[in-house]
Amino acid sequence: MGMKAITFVSALVFASSAYAQDSNQLNVEGEIYASTVAAPSHMENVDTLYSGWHFRSGETQALQLDDFDNPGMVFIDQGIDLFGKVDGSEGKSCESCHENVEDFAGLRTALPRVENGELVAMEDLVNECRTERMGADAWKWSSTNMTAMTGLIGFQSRGMPMSVKIDGDATKFWEKGKELYYTRVGQLDMACSNCHEDNYGVMIRADHLSQGQINGFPTYRLKNAKLNSVHARFKGCMSNIRATPFKEGGNEFKALELYIASRGQGLAVETPSVRN
Ligand code: HEC
Ligand code: HEC
Repeated sequence: MGMKAITFVSALVFASSAYAQDSNQLNVEGEIYASTVAAPSHMENVDTLYSGWHFRSGETQALQLDDFDNPGMVFIDQGIDLFGKVDGSEGKSCESCHENVEDFAGLRTALPRVENGELVAMEDLVNECRTERMGADAWKWSSTNMTAMTGLIGFQSRGMPMSVKIDGDATKFWEKGKELYYTRVGQLDMACSNCHEDNYGVMIRADHLSQGQINGFPTYRLKNAKLNSVHARFKGCMSNIRATPFKEGGNEFKALELYIASRGQGLAVETPSVRN
């Protein structure tokens, strides 16, 4: 570890261990969500999983409890409009083939997944339909159209437990994701685990470190007032440790997404969650 990293770690990162996740209940629209669950057996260093919601301030938490207050819901409404909008050379909308968006219930909990030997995220499924079935252009990974659509589809699984497949043909992707999670990178020479496994519950600058869970994505961030994709969040964390981020939609981030999803097995889907 270089000088810079030492200064960063001691002065800024783990300034205090006097904080921990709270014990409030995540009660969305009157339904209690699984936001604290026992960790899956593959996690050696963590006993309990906590939704990122538990690490936010009372005001930020409150925004997620009522859909009228949740600023992410505007984008879910945009997703509904897009779902019915004709686009591309075939003159079709999503609705032409998928009559009820509710039929996607459960899909969020099981992604990413392996199809024909490739790891596939929700964005890939949406773009496959756009390019192969509608004759429309692919949407950029973290564009407002894409996050509105993945938000709408994810919303159909809200409250359901995360449950990605990590055995069989998924194993090699999962292992790659795990390796990335524990590999130190960047000028600050840190791994995801250094913050989100070793130090969740403590303050970093003015922010309260969570386990870096992804059950609430795409997530509305107060910081940029829009829905944010999983990969955009990964990118931001890599930039913060002064590492060159992997490409959104690339194999590294998809493998990392699978691994991190598996570190959240059993947590309720919160799409669209609200974070700072
Ligand atoms: C021409 C018909 C057609 C159109 C238009 C279409 N899809 Fe699809 N879509 C399919 C078919 C066929 C499949 C594969 C079989 C299935 O899972 O239903 C599929 C699969 C999917 C899946 C994976 C579902 C799962 O459970 O595995 C998603 C998500 C999806 N489509 C989203 C969309 C979105 C969003 C749009 C509009 C941007 C869209 N589709 C437009 C026909 C279409
Ligand atoms: C220097 C510490 C640090 C490192 C290293 C780090 N992060 Fe983060 N990360 C943060 C902070 C601070 C936040 C915002 C507060 C929180 O939710 O923890 C955050 C938030 C997140 C979130 C959003 C959680 C939620 O509930 O919405 C995810 C996901 C995430 N990080 C993933 C990663 C991944 C993947 C890596 C490794 C590539 C990584 N982080 C590395 C500090 C870090």
